[in-house]
Amino acid sequence: MTHRTDIRFILNGTEMSVPDVAASQTLLDYLRLNRRLTGTKEGCAEGDCGACTVLVGRLTDTGLVYAPVNACIRFLASVDGCHVVTVEHLSGADGRLHPVQQAMIDHHGSQCGFCTPGFVMSLYALWMQTPEPTEAQVETAVQGNLCRCTGYEPIIRAAVAVSRYGTPASDHLTTERETMTARLQGLQSEERLVSGPEDDLSVIPSSVDDLADCLLAYPDATIVAGATDVGLWVTKFMRNIGPAIFTAHLNALKTIDHQDATLLIGAGASYTDCQDALSTHLPHLSRYWDRIAGWQVRNMGTVGGNIANGSPIGDTPPVLIALGAEIVLRRGNARRTLALEKFFVDYGKQDRAPGEFVETIRIPIPGPNTLNAAYKISKRRDEDISSVAAGIQVTVEDGRITQSRIAFGGMAATPKRSAAAETALQGQVWSADVFDAAAKALAQDFAPLSDWRASAEYRMLSAQNLLRRFFLEQDVATTAAVQLETA
Ligand SMILES: Cc1cc2nc3c(=O)[nH]c(=O)nc-3n(C[C@H](O)[C@H](O)[C@H](O)COP(=O)(O)OP(=O)(O)OC[C@H]3O[C@@H](n4cnc5c(N)ncnc54)[C@H](O)[C@@H]3O)c2cc1C
Ligand code: FES
Ligand code: FES
Repeated sequence: MTHRTDIRFILNGTEMSVPDVAASQTLLDYLRLNRRLTGTKEGCAEGDCGACTVLVGRLTDTGLVYAPVNACIRFLASVDGCHVVTVEHLSGADGRLHPVQQAMIDHHGSQCGFCTPGFVMSLYALWMQTPEPTEAQVETAVQGNLCRCTGYEPIIRAAVAVSRYGTPASDHLTTERETMTARLQGLQSEERLVSGPEDDLSVIPSSVDDLADCLLAYPDATIVAGATDVGLWVTKFMRNIGPAIFTAHLNALKTIDHQDATLLIGAGASYTDCQDALSTHLPHLSRYWDRIAGWQVRNMGTVGGNIANGSPIGDTPPVLIALGAEIVLRRGNARRTLALEKFFVDYGKQDRAPGEFVETIRIPIPGPNTLNAAYKISKRRDEDISSVAAGIQVTVEDGRITQSRIAFGGMAATPKRSAAAETALQGQVWSADVFDAAAKALAQDFAPLSDWRASAEYRMLSAQNLLRRFFLEQDVATTAAVQLETA
């Protein structure tokens, strides 16, 4: 089979063709060391500080979409066919600063300046999407950017003021949109790419079917979706990830569909891709979703990656298990469907055969009389990993609990359902005492660990209180709804 060997993309205005790209080569190293574009900084090298933020524009089913991402954990191979925009591309040909940069200066948004290019890139992306943001929107946009000098207030003021300095309509990403779309279309290829040295091979499949074939050919390859977990294997553990099969370009693995009462999410859909569907079908997850990482990581990280990674503290498994989600696993042309909770066999062990990949996540949309909640307990509100995460779904008919699904992360070696708490609720009258009994029953289900995120006692008490909180919150909501109906 013939295949191409050069990665092709557009860097700022210039078309690049890079041969021999090792799977483990990061975009940040390429920008700084090979291209000397040192405006993009390296702070943490783990996706936390945002100093390395660049925009990546890619052709989606709805057109060219730009998103801020972390270049430190993004692999060079994964920008094949994309437009990479660094901070150097912002000022005009005459050297005039971009509106976002000028607003940052005028509002004293920069002191030592190390974080500034990263903030500028996040705010640039926000301004392109939402030219007149509220403070809350600014805060969400910069969740993934850390500043140790300014205390953030001047940056937020600058972000809110940018619209007074210029409009996105006159920005070159807007004025050159059609030309850039055509240039990127010219880079798309129907051929598989295989590049890099034998011991660190990059493979870019041409389609989802080709992905299935690639995985048969390289059954032990690392699948790289958003790279927000895999990136750290390279930057923190100094591992080579090759042979690696990249999937972030596969639009067909990102589709989000709605069939009868089931939401079908492609395993490659990013957290950001899912937001609209969640607001419509699973609104209780919408705010929870914004507590996952920061904006850059949500633009890259996928639900499929979160599941396949198998971490006991991943945020999506508990809430998806509570909803009764299933996953479709594919190997070659064979598919099997598995209840999500059965995928997690033990710590670090998932029910996935070599050469198999997660293709789709199937989520039943909650029916009537069903109450749902998702909770995350972490040390920081933003950009932090859970100490405990919970998904709760309870069906109440005529004042009695007819069904419940309760799952926790951070309480065991895998994300896990709480059988004893569910039994304690089954068939009972909706009441505080019943939820208190269910909370106490959690001690039969879980013996959590102590680590630097939380002690075992804290985890257990938090989990129990989340069940009590669920009752209180839902009771208020249910009572208010009844009062409205009878008023
Ligand atoms: C700064 C930062 C903050 C974070 N915060 C959170 C947080 O708040 N909550 C949270 O839950 N996680 C968090 N994470 C972890 C990470 O973002 C998530 O786990 C994310 O969903 C992983 O998805 P990905 O596409 O980046 O996976 P990748 O890193 O590409 O892959 C992860 C694993 O899944 C495998 N894989 C990927 N796709 C498939 C597939 N389709 N089939 C089979 N295997 C596959 C890979 O081979 C790898 O083993 C954070 C990470 C960073 C860097
Ligand atoms: S260097 Fe800190 S997020 Fe990339
Ligand atoms: S200005 Fe110094 S870290 Fe932000």
